[in-house]
Parts: sequence; structure tokens; C-alpha cells
Amino acid sequence: MATLTILEFPDSRLRKRALPVRTVDDTVRGLIDDMLETMYAAPGVGLAATQVNVQKRIVVIDVSEEKNEPLCLVNPEILEQSGAEEMEEGCLSVPGVFEKVSRAERISVRALNRDGGQFELMTEGLLAVCIQHEIDHLEGKLFVDYLSPLKRQRIRKRISKEQKQAGTAHKAAAS
Ligand code: NI
Repeated sequence: MATLTILEFPDSRLRKRALPVRTVDDTVRGLIDDMLETMYAAPGVGLAATQVNVQKRIVVIDVSEEKNEPLCLVNPEILEQSGAEEMEEGCLSVPGVFEKVSRAERISVRALNRDGGQFELMTEGLLAVCIQHEIDHLEGKLFVDYLSPLKRQRIRKRISKEQKQAGTAHKAAAS
């Protein structure tokens, strides 16, 4: 297993649309394991393949307290959604930013599991929000897209400043 590099906003590769997985084989399972390791190490509650620069429709999630309930969704598809709920969201690709986003409250989703078996899940609350957030990633969409352009511009400035500072710190440490 390996920890993968997570792309950060406004990287244009986060805007790519992921393609369906044809067969859930060992290569896909290896990627799922690496994505889980990357998500737990970050730490985060969800990660989409798009965020690690792989254009495949794969999502991993774990919203449990103990971090022992990994959920993997390959080719996830929302079948039904209802209600509306506003929840504060964050994203490993937009570090340090937490903003309220309105999404469906309840969803039912169909996907393939780690073994390629099809399953359906009806859920609400944090897990429902997380699944919608991750499926957005597969479409090249980020949670900051739901915010006002002004807010998004502020976030972009803050992150580019932090990236520059991190670059300087890295150079200083390397010299
Ligand atoms: Ni995210």
C-alpha cells in the first residue's frame, strides 16, 4: 500500500470527469487500498479517485468515529434523493476551508463494492452528504463551486499564499 498525493484547488486536474470502471480487478482493488490509506493518513472522511489524479469512478468513505468502517463505491449512481440539508463541509483538496453547503438530505445510491458486486444503499445525514460530495468530485465539481464567486476567490488567494509559504519552507529545509 502507498500514500498518494492529493491534488489541491485550483489544480485544473480536479476538473476532469472520471470514467466508469469496466472491471473491478486487482489493479482497481490496489488503488482502493491506496486511497483508503491516503484518506486515513490525511485524515479525512472521504476521497475520490479524481483527487489523486486518477480518472476512474471510485470513491472511498469512512464517517465512523473509530475509523473502522471503510466504504468503497465503484461507479456510484444516485437513484433517488429527497429533502434538503445544510451542513458544514471541508475537502482534502481545499485544505483548511469549511463552509456550509446545501444538499439532499436523504439519498439512495447504487454502486459496485470492492469485489465488483452491486449493492444499493439508502442513507441520510453525514454519510449522504459525503457521498454527494465525492460523486461531485468524479464530475470535476468541488464544494467551493456552491459558494459565491467572491468567497471562492478569497479561498483561492489564501490557498495560493499557503502553497507559496510551504514551498519556501521546503526549500529552506532542503538547503
Ligand atoms: Ni472533497
